[in-house]
Amino acid sequence: MTQSDKMKRREFLTMGSSLGLLGVAAAATGGAVFKYLMPVVTYGTPKKFKIPKSDLPDVGDELLFSDQKVVLRRHSDTEMAALSLVCTHLGCTVNVVETGFQCPCHGSQYDIKGTVVGGPAPQSLAWLTVKPLPGNYLEIDTGSRLKENSYFKV
Ligand code: FES
Repeated sequence: MTQSDKMKRREFLTMGSSLGLLGVAAAATGGAVFKYLMPVVTYGTPKKFKIPKSDLPDVGDELLFSDQKVVLRRHSDTEMAALSLVCTHLGCTVNVVETGFQCPCHGSQYDIKGTVVGGPAPQSLAWLTVKPLPGNYLEIDTGSRLKENSYFKV
């Protein structure tokens, strides 16, 4: 083997290694682009959930559903409110406080009916649809938004 043949062989191996590395880089980049373009599907909490009527609170009391971010408040013997606990500013979960609700993120405050009384929230907390189900159950739809003071009858 001549010196010239050795150089050609070395060049050939160098070029082959470079092409191999380039292929690996292209495959990694292609994989990253493919993953970026694929839709990310998340399955959040279902929008509707049901509760037995026997769980409803007494007048003036409330029942909190932390996972669903909902509170039920009994207004009278026959009327209840279902309010979303999702802050209308940027979506944090508001805390139930003595005067109503308070958002821990930017300080929005809502009264007991969910009406904004302070902070950056642009609108009141959502009043949610509640409908009776067979077997003495109620279904609460967290994806709905009724006008304020839309009490449901019990
Ligand atoms: S998210 Fe509630 S005040 Fe900003």
